[in-house]
Amino acid sequence: MSLNQAAWINAKGQPLSVSEAPMPRPGAGEILVRNRAIALNSFDGIVQTLGSMVTPWVSYPAILGSDVAGEVVVVGASVSRFKPGDRVLGLALGIDKIANRSVEGAFQKYVILRQEAATELPDSISFERAAVLPLAIATAACGLFLDDQLGLRAPSVQRSEPTGKTVLIWGGSTCVGSAAIQLAVAAGYEVVTTASPKNFDYVRGLGASYVFDYNDTDVVVTMAKHLADRDMAGALAIAVGSGASCIDVMSRCRGQRMVSMASSPLPINDAPLTRQFFWKLTRLPQLAAGFLGLAIRARVRGVATRAIWGTALMKGTLGKQIFNEFLGPALASGRLVPAPKPLVVGHSLEALPEALALLRRGVSASKVVVSL
Ligand SMILES: NC(=O)c1ccc[n+]([C@@H]2O[C@H](COP(=O)([O-])OP(=O)(O)OC[C@H]3O[C@@H](n4cnc5c(N)ncnc54)[C@H](OP(=O)(O)O)[C@@H]3O)[C@@H](O)[C@H]2O)c1
Repeated sequence: MSLNQAAWINAKGQPLSVSEAPMPRPGAGEILVRNRAIALNSFDGIVQTLGSMVTPWVSYPAILGSDVAGEVVVVGASVSRFKPGDRVLGLALGIDKIANRSVEGAFQKYVILRQEAATELPDSISFERAAVLPLAIATAACGLFLDDQLGLRAPSVQRSEPTGKTVLIWGGSTCVGSAAIQLAVAAGYEVVTTASPKNFDYVRGLGASYVFDYNDTDVVVTMAKHLADRDMAGALAIAVGSGASCIDVMSRCRGQRMVSMASSPLPINDAPLTRQFFWKLTRLPQLAAGFLGLAIRARVRGVATRAIWGTALMKGTLGKQIFNEFLGPALASGRLVPAPKPLVVGHSLEALPEALALLRRGVSASKVVVSL
């Protein structure tokens, strides 16, 4: 077996540095995967710059990254779902509190996945396309299906009976939004979403029934009028600053007046790697005011809100339900497609810093991916 290599972060606020890594050995319920594609999330950059604030538990040196697709090399004890040679995608939990160990970080050639966070991948789907899915699917599933979030009916590979209810997914062309639209439709909900006009056809293609331009100044009023006769199942607020708009829309609707929020009220992915004093001096009070403002707005308008932690589904049975029971058959049958398209920026671990920089500058209906 060839040597493992990883893009290490040696301490908080440090650049990534590629060097040798121990070859992980899968324990019970785990699989060792030869990583073929890694997708980048804004959270990766946020942990790199603001690790002490957002993930204070991380032990360094650490290996970041959540999204992988590759081939199973070795399976641990009591693994029955997978065998060596299988193609899989999976949610890598290295920097999550439930794992906090480098062997489970995505930014390396050989990675440990938990079998309940991995899904068999049909031959027709490339590793690069598959890698866009794990954290987006997990985050969307948390917001839509966890009991303390919107608590919607579970998705089904067979067409679900329509629930007769509508869910608002703000930010349909984001990666999380693309997953959320498809999951909500597979669960039998009508989806109303937002995107820029250039992505209207894209989100409709994923199953959204109606799409509004979030750049319109009167989008909240227009959307609320459109939803007036609907029985609402709630809203998923994806994209920085979308929480306030969702609260305002939901306060004018019938049904479950609840907003599950994936994003902060102001950006936190633009902190510099070093010399953060002035960024923190200005942004942290603004963020505190933004969160307080959201809480007051929700209270005054009679709307419940919850923040989403995208890996929370792994604590109960939802993770297994999504990754082991729903996603594989859904991908094989075309019920769910990997979306958005991958934007492959390099073919080695050395490309990860450039990939993170590109993601910080912003993308539209695409996911930054590095293939290996
Ligand atoms: N809580 C968690 O655990 C968790 C996990 C993952 C992600 N997130 C958060 O979820 C958000 C989405 O992440 P992602 O990786 O899916 O994003 P992404 O794909 O990188 O987002 C790019 C998309 O954002 C859309 N967008 C930008 N501003 C918008 C707005 N005001 N309203 C609606 N859409 C807007 C753009 O749409 P157009 O091009 O159509 O204009 C673009 O397609 C981020 O804030 C991320 O930090 C949270």
